[in-house]
Amino acid sequence: MRILVAGGSGVLGSRVVNLLVRAGHQVWATTRRGDREPLIAASGAKPVAMDALVADDVARAVEVSAPDVIIHELTDLAGSDFAGNARLRVEGTANLVAAARAHGVEHMIAQSIAWMYEPGEGPADETVPLARTTDGAPAFPSVEALEEAVLGLRHGIALRYGILYGPGTWYAADGDIYRRAADGEVVATTAWTSFVQVDDAAEATVDALAWPAGVVNVVDDAPAHVEEWGPRLVTLAGGLVRSISARAEGRAASNARARSLGWTPRHPSWRDAWEADSGA
Ligand SMILES: NC(=O)c1ccc[n+]([C@@H]2O[C@H](COP(=O)([O-])OP(=O)(O)OC[C@H]3O[C@@H](n4cnc5c(N)ncnc54)[C@H](OP(=O)(O)O)[C@@H]3O)[C@@H](O)[C@H]2O)c1
Repeated sequence: MRILVAGGSGVLGSRVVNLLVRAGHQVWATTRRGDREPLIAASGAKPVAMDALVADDVARAVEVSAPDVIIHELTDLAGSDFAGNARLRVEGTANLVAAARAHGVEHMIAQSIAWMYEPGEGPADETVPLARTTDGAPAFPSVEALEEAVLGLRHGIALRYGILYGPGTWYAADGDIYRRAADGEVVATTAWTSFVQVDDAAEATVDALAWPAGVVNVVDDAPAHVEEWGPRLVTLAGGLVRSISARAEGRAASNARARSLGWTPRHPSWRDAWEADSGA
């Protein structure tokens, strides 16, 4: 297939690009940064300069690659700029979906999150309603906007990834969350957490080329509360626990649907993976 990976230079996107090239697909990968183009080219994909917030850029990227499928791995979290990331989710996704439609591309796989289910008992499957604030507004409006835009395509798929860990992520030994853990502090996004190892997430994304339209949780088998994983991370990072907290209670997610579609995580439990590595 001809595949355009928007965000193909990122922590997850670059892994997806490598797997796609290895599987024999023709791959285009976007970046805003000239210095990342040689890396993309070395992986066997074609670099495409694109700022997702510039509609003309996005239209040109889709025109040049003429893809059968677009994989959307755009996030902007390197500087922990959550407002910028929300804008990218809303405006970047709108630009991408508009360009896809204009070129007759109806197959898109996009990055979403697994921690936006309403609180409740046990791991949530994809039918569980999404969290609302006390006044009834979406708790994660930009993610809902992203999903709505992508799922409006005939073959739109939203992959609700768990919290990514592994090399290059915030949980790796050189990552922000690990570093704070070394100082004894963990602040989880949601107390109930479903993790997914970053290479497993990339494999699920490639598997999803054959999945039907809809929403799929991509998480490991071992959801856990921050009161369990927080102290483990602190110990792993060589720190002493000072404070473990979470921004919201959240809800664990179930991977039953992804598994039923054929995905098998190589790291079914973060517990074993973190034990095996010096860094998470
Ligand atoms: N589910 C999760 O837990 C989750 C999900 C996402 C991120 N994270 C965490 O956040 C860390 C940092 O991730 P990140 O999202 O900052 O970086 P990243 O993985 O390096 O990159 C995201 C991708 O989006 C692209 N991008 C960003 N803004 C763009 C824009 N306006 N237009 C076009 N492309 C754009 C980047 O391209 P350029 O080459 O142009 O920069 C890059 O390809 C990760 O390591 C991970 O730990 C976690």
